[in-house]
Amino acid sequence: MSIARLNGGQDTKTMITHDILIVGAGLAGMRAAIAAPPDLNVALLSKVHPVRSHSVAAQGGINAAIGEQDSWEAHAYDTAKGGLYLGDQDAIEAMCREAPQDILELERMGVIFSRTPEGRIAQRPFGGAGFPRTCYAADRTGHALLHAMYEQLMKRRCRVYEEWYVTALLVEQGRCCGVVAWDLVHGGLQVLRAKAVILATGGSGRVFSTSTNAVINTGDGMALAYRAGLPLEDMEFVQFHPTTLKDTGILITEGARGEGGYLLNTLGERFMKRYAPEQMELATRSTVSLAIGQEIQEGRGVDGCVLLDLRHLGRARILERLPQIRELALEFAGLDPIETPIPIRPGAHYQMGGVKTNAWGETDLPGLFAAGECACVSVHGANRLGGNSLLETIVFGRRAGTRAADAIRDYDLQPVPEEVLKSEEQRLNTLLTNPGLERAWQIRDDLGKTMSLNLGIFRTKQSMQEALGAIQALKARANRMCVQDKGRIFNTDLIQALELQCLLDIADTIVVSALGREESRGAHYRADFPTRNDSAWIRHTVSHRREDGPQLSYAPVTITRFPPA
Ligand code: FUM
Repeated sequence: MSIARLNGGQDTKTMITHDILIVGAGLAGMRAAIAAPPDLNVALLSKVHPVRSHSVAAQGGINAAIGEQDSWEAHAYDTAKGGLYLGDQDAIEAMCREAPQDILELERMGVIFSRTPEGRIAQRPFGGAGFPRTCYAADRTGHALLHAMYEQLMKRRCRVYEEWYVTALLVEQGRCCGVVAWDLVHGGLQVLRAKAVILATGGSGRVFSTSTNAVINTGDGMALAYRAGLPLEDMEFVQFHPTTLKDTGILITEGARGEGGYLLNTLGERFMKRYAPEQMELATRSTVSLAIGQEIQEGRGVDGCVLLDLRHLGRARILERLPQIRELALEFAGLDPIETPIPIRPGAHYQMGGVKTNAWGETDLPGLFAAGECACVSVHGANRLGGNSLLETIVFGRRAGTRAADAIRDYDLQPVPEEVLKSEEQRLNTLLTNPGLERAWQIRDDLGKTMSLNLGIFRTKQSMQEALGAIQALKARANRMCVQDKGRIFNTDLIQALELQCLLDIADTIVVSALGREESRGAHYRADFPTRNDSAWIRHTVSHRREDGPQLSYAPVTITRFPPA
């Protein structure tokens, strides 16, 4: 079967062409599209409908120093310190300085934020923040933002390729000039040319089995860039959210603790008093996750979890501020948090690393930009503060869209050689005709278990080497992977196989980067190197793809006004 598209064809005259093509239609992607001037031909491409993007699942809020007593400098300090001084402070400053203006712009776009009795945008305390600066829409902030943004996108009549999957970046003469993508609905590969491509594909949380991430979060954009020869930065830093629902890993927002929720062990003790007596439940995520892990490990857990107690907040406050959390607990744990504490445990939540960019989303490849979780700008360093992820999508999505628009003004697209599709056709054909018996879902399941077991909140050289060996074996199995569905229309079997290849590449970079960093910092806690070592390790890990696996090098961290302390 030929897998090039039958309709549309590969005739260069009929080839799809845009000024800017954005891969991923969550918050970062949509914000980038909206930032580009209307005279440019901008399109988005996503493997799901835009409002099914994972940004919709964000719950607790978005940070900005809009309070009268607050300042962007204080926000920047909290971010740098919370990230254990591994974030680039020029980027942190840009994000925190521009945040208040972005929030007001979101409000003008139609985001319905929760309000104070005086009518101002309400803000709640979040972990590691010296001030209540997390703006929110009850506990459905991502939903509120994403839908408002989608309305803006429709108003601008942006073209969206819904349910298309990018299989490779097009790189010609040292420049990114489009993508090769599979159209899920009709089947077939297609070249989409563009003067600039912005990757906004979100995270890779599905590398782990216990994760708050949607099943679509398979690190596709990171893998595309990595395979095109671009560096991934700080991949060892995977944030484990302290409170995910027992068994399912569904996010139970930090907002629950921001509203005053307690964490209890089996003795009914608020154990955070032993780990962070001042900040208690609102210490940074890495501190709280480690504390929970230790409680469970030392036998003070409850059935592999600890308890999040909201009962004292009262019915009215729970219904007003945390309605979704109550719904999730009722639906997925069969309990009502108004009356019963919720069993929770840490779960993989956010990849602090990603495609290396500067503070304008520019990568090392001209014509290629990245924003949102798939990028490493880097503002989060070793540990992201809650509420800074939505902010990152908005600030750096906008910046990437603006800079991409500037960068293509004087650039004319070059003709694409006929053979650009050949290698992708071959790769997909190999998958579709592979006689092996291995199934993508089984390998993915085994990968998740390996990663959760060996690279969870505690890591050692031995556990990581075990993971590395297991990944090599899983890669060998993936070479024998069989796609049973041989059809073209909605071939989700094929997409799962392609996603698995991304997950395996990303897992490799996480493990190798983590083995390289011989210290503990933020989300990277090594039981064999339990202390932070500033003199040796205030540096970024950079991984490049090589035939035999990731090759590491190290790069300096930009320090401006907050020296490591
Ligand atoms: O807990 C939460 O609501 C998650 C927020 C975040 O990751 O920024």
